[in-house]
Amino acid sequence: MNELDSLVDTARADFALAKAPADLENAKARFLGKAGRITELMKGMAALSVDEKKSRGAAINVAKQAIEAALNHRRQALADEELEVQLRAEALDVTLPGRRRVGGGLHPVSRTMERIEAIFSSMGFDVADGPEVESDWHSFTSLNNPPNHPARSMQDTFYVDIDGEDGIPYNLRPHTSPMQVRYAHQHIKKHAAAFEAAAADATGATRAPEIRVIAPGRTYRVDSDATHSPMFHQCEGLWLGENVSFKDLKVVFTDFCRTFFESDDLVLRFRPSFFPFTEPSAEIDIQFQSGPLAGRWLEVAGSGQVHPNVVRNMGLDPERYIGFAFGMGPDRLTMLRYGVNDLRLFFDGDLRFLSQFQ
Ligand code: PHE
Repeated sequence: MNELDSLVDTARADFALAKAPADLENAKARFLGKAGRITELMKGMAALSVDEKKSRGAAINVAKQAIEAALNHRRQALADEELEVQLRAEALDVTLPGRRRVGGGLHPVSRTMERIEAIFSSMGFDVADGPEVESDWHSFTSLNNPPNHPARSMQDTFYVDIDGEDGIPYNLRPHTSPMQVRYAHQHIKKHAAAFEAAAADATGATRAPEIRVIAPGRTYRVDSDATHSPMFHQCEGLWLGENVSFKDLKVVFTDFCRTFFESDDLVLRFRPSFFPFTEPSAEIDIQFQSGPLAGRWLEVAGSGQVHPNVVRNMGLDPERYIGFAFGMGPDRLTMLRYGVNDLRLFFDGDLRFLSQFQ
């Protein structure tokens, strides 16, 4: 192998060793630069004759072109490698599962509340909201349950460290029943003219306006097990008018239950009971005729004809206004509807449970 061929080989080998563009430029300088081997060989031709210059020059040129070709080839290879590394680093793995957007949903008890509101709205009931921290008068006394009355022990009530106007501490309402008198007062005030006109007409010919409302919301009692929670929900119902009877309670509540549970053959039982604010009073039990709960009596509400003392506390004449009230447990209704056996699951905030209702 002649000197020029081996120079080309050396250049190729050097270029191959260059691992980065900067190494390659250094290697290039050693062969093609101002002080490089090719330049030196060119300079070395000065002493040659014209003919020798021609052939020697041509041979050097061939070597130079071969070295340049090798350089370009290596440059391209390095650039390709660099691009390859970059592409790999920026690569998208199209087989990765997408990032899921987690959809929210209504809490099962909220669903029940919405159902209750929709059904009673369709029967002409107003929907009212009230305070959870209540006065003693609204929670008990106005409901014919005065201080020291034994019926007060029916509910283990939470009290707040602040006294109300009557000197008795506020309570966390143990039921939604305070909304009976609260709403009646608001409603009578709002429709004062109609109520006054009816009251002023001794003949009774002027029809008395009705009060028809449900009041869903949170309630509190010192109670905690699989079917009781210190915070739970109730929905109060009240219908007062000149001639609203227990029969109407039965019709309204039966209609509600059958619509709520989408079960036409659902049977209701009105079991005699006691509440200070209703007389007579009844617990309402329901019985499914099919499905996993068929045949069992399940308690869903307390109810009764509104006590004359409560009607009086509303500012109405109990000789004229009569009607019914009920208080049901939306948590219980939700458990029955979805087959949930532990009330506490509703309030634990466990997504494994809650996401099943979406
Ligand atoms: N407030 C009663 C309770 O919490 C339920 C009820 C409401 C009963 C209205 C009669 C009338 O148990």
